[in-house]
This record gives sequence, structure tokens and C-alpha cells, in this order.
Amino acid sequence: MTLFEQLGGEAAVTAVTAQFYANIQADATVANFFNGINMADQTNKTASFLCAALGGPKAWGGRNLKEVHANMGVTNAQFTTVIGHLRSALTSAGVAADLVEQTVAVAETVRGDVVTA
Ligand code: HEM
Repeated sequence: MTLFEQLGGEAAVTAVTAQFYANIQADATVANFFNGINMADQTNKTASFLCAALGGPKAWGGRNLKEVHANMGVTNAQFTTVIGHLRSALTSAGVAADLVEQTVAVAETVRGDVVTA
């Protein structure tokens, strides 16, 4: 069974992603990156990306993440903070601890594409 299936499929991944961005927007150390961004679109795009990365049936059809994040100046520390917000979103959705860590490990695979500072 894929991580996508274990998490409960697209609806569950989308709900966790919405909470992930709510957590980010409530944190002044990282919220500013998303000023002026349509967060409903952002949630859908990141949920689609994560669904594919977690073994879901639809390939990611969006932009290359390295190009998307190229000029943002995201630091390793800020990326770690954001990963923490994903971990809390998963935990607050009732996802089991081992599945939380496996999901976080998949999100960690984009660190090298996102961190540029
Ligand atoms: C500190 C960490 C991060 C910051 C500050 C950040 C910031 C952003 C911002 C501002 C955009 C919007 C760009 C635009 O529309 O002009 C974006 C797009 C995106 N980000 Fe991130 N991001 C971070 C981490 C991540 C992670 C961990 C993932 C995936 C797990 C991710 C996936 C995406 C996707 C899928 C898009 C949309 C790409 C598209 O338009 O096709 N980001 N990010």
C-alpha cells in the first residue's frame, strides 16, 4: 500500500496540505513568503505534488520546483520550520507517528530544490 493510500487518498492529503499552509501563515518567521499568493491555488498545487510524490495515481503536471523556488532565498532553517508545520498538520489530523515520519521524509526530498540561501 502506498503512503498516498495509507494517508487516505487525495481528500486526506488536501486537508493536511490546507492545515500545513494555515500553520505557515500563522508563523511570522515564514508567512511573508506567501504574501500575495492565492492560498487556495497554492494548497491545490502542493497537494497535487504531494499526492504524486507519495505514490498517488496522477503525475505532477506543474512546474519544476527548483525553478519555482529559485529566487526566494529560503534558508535551511526556514525549510526546517516549514517541515515542522507539515509534521504538526499530519499529527493534528490523527496520522500515526510512523506514517507522519515517512510522509515528512518524502517532503524532505525537495529541500535541495527549495533552499537557496
Ligand atoms: C520554506 C519552504 C517553502 C517556501 C517559502 C515556499 C514558497 C513558495 C511560494 C511563495 C510559491 C508560489 C510561487 C508563485 O506562485 O509565484 C511556491 C510554489 C510551490 N511550492 Fe513552495 N515553498 C516552500 C516549500 C515547499 C515544499 C516543501 C513543497 C512540496 C512539498 C512545495 C511545493 C510547491 C509547489 C507544488 C508550488 C507550485 C508550483 C507551480 O506553480 O506549479 N514548496 N512555494
